[in-house]
Amino acid sequence: MKKTYILAIESSCDETSVSIICDGKEEIATVVLSQMDTHANFGGVVPEVASRMHIENITMVLEECLEKANMKMEDVDAIAITYGPGLIGSLLIGLQAAKTLAYLYGKPLIPVHHIAGHIYANNLVKPMEFPLISLVVSGGHTELIYMKDHYSFEKLGSTLDDAVGEAYDKVARVLGLHYPGGPLVDKLAHEGKDTYSLPLPLDDDSYNFSFSGIKSAVINLSHNEHQRGNEIITENLACSFQNRVVEILTKKTMRALREKNVKHLIIAGGVAANKGLREKFTELCEKEDIELTVPAMKYCTDNAAMIGAAGYYAYKIGRRADLSLNSKATDRLQ
Ligand code: KG4
Ligand code: ZN
Repeated sequence: MKKTYILAIESSCDETSVSIICDGKEEIATVVLSQMDTHANFGGVVPEVASRMHIENITMVLEECLEKANMKMEDVDAIAITYGPGLIGSLLIGLQAAKTLAYLYGKPLIPVHHIAGHIYANNLVKPMEFPLISLVVSGGHTELIYMKDHYSFEKLGSTLDDAVGEAYDKVARVLGLHYPGGPLVDKLAHEGKDTYSLPLPLDDDSYNFSFSGIKSAVINLSHNEHQRGNEIITENLACSFQNRVVEILTKKTMRALREKNVKHLIIAGGVAANKGLREKFTELCEKEDIELTVPAMKYCTDNAAMIGAAGYYAYKIGRRADLSLNSKATDRLQ
């Protein structure tokens, strides 16, 4: 059967990335250029700086990817592009590049939602099996999604305030760790003990989450201890915070699997790299006979390979955009 090659572009935040994916599952080549070191100087992503760096890098990243794949633009079947959600200035650079290529080479343009991309990073590990539940945990999203088939997304619940990655980054700042703090809090958590009393966030019957309360609890606890002249045991506070976050994420996800009678679970997004979360899900899924898939570490954070995997299934169901396609800073998963 003829193979389908999707060239994908991702530029929604601070990574400029281009990838070529075959049939939604085989990675031919991927290039990711991260701006993380630049933004770390500012303690977070500076949108204007991010857009300017995407402009400087996009052509080089595209050329490097084609060279790595040993392919020409003429060899690809379609172009997949992250149209949103994300930083609007950053999104527009990738979109303009994708539209220019689609026009120049007469290729179909496939619009891909960024979160669909994170979910499909799992298809690069192992073909997804349905029905499944996906827990999406990133810097901008925390959602439980039910999928009865490819490209069918039913939202069961989401965060009511902060995304889990955002809470990690803010807690990291309070603990004096540099940006992005998520991986550092995760590392510290494994060196500490759960000695601090923190609330279990939004422990109710819904599938929604809330992380602003626990974030504030960490901030208040830290300020109070400083005022009393007491030292914070950083690794213990990281451990207590991580334990509470992992407990609520796993508790609601496992309940969703039981209530929906689903046997496949996939984790998606930057926080899918979290060691504590992976360990707890591995243990619970083994116990409850659930098949768990997690993305490769390098594809937890933003990259175009996941957009190429999602783009293939969007292409197969006939999703197309014309040159009037615009970027969207916010948009529901569809
Ligand atoms: O998916 P992503 O690259 O960006 C969005 O689409 O939002 O996720 C980035 C987020 C950051 O908040 C980062 O701190 C967090 O993922 N993160 C982690 C870990 N690795 C990355 N959070 C907790 N533990 C980790 N190991
Ligand atoms: Zn992302």
